[in-house]
Amino acid sequence: MSTVLVLNGPNLGRLGSREPDVYGSANLDDLRALLVAFARDGVSIDLRQTDDEAELIHWLYEAVDERMPVILNPAAFTHYSYALRDAAALVTKAGLPLIEVHISNPHARETFRHTSVVSAIATGVIAGLGFDSYRLALDFVTAP
Ligand code: DQA
Repeated sequence: MSTVLVLNGPNLGRLGSREPDVYGSANLDDLRALLVAFARDGVSIDLRQTDDEAELIHWLYEAVDERMPVILNPAAFTHYSYALRDAAALVTKAGLPLIEVHISNPHARETFRHTSVVSAIATGVIAGLGFDSYRLALDFVTAP
């Protein structure tokens, strides 16, 4: 069984009730169920969420140590956290895929969302497709 880490940053624990006009009405449990249903045989989904930057960074270390591919929605950390960016770089420098995902399309929103400090070290970026951003990332990181 191989495991894919699906990491979610601050305020994403409020999906379902948070700005449903932007993020939809489904929550993280719905996302987990969608990804589990979509995962290829032999792939397990470890979906986590935290509002804590340090915890997110430590999960990225875990990805490196356990050699797990990462799907990362850094949420607002996307736009300013150099610490998260440096931890995410450890993943891709270790030869593991890290896909930055967003539910909304940050480029179609406020100016501060147009900058991602993570994208330059990510394997790829998928944004604006709702939960399909995660599903497509999962398809990529588990492709045979
Ligand atoms: C987000 C976009 C970010 O700008 C925002 O801070 C989030 C969610 C998204 O998934 O669309 O919290 O990462």
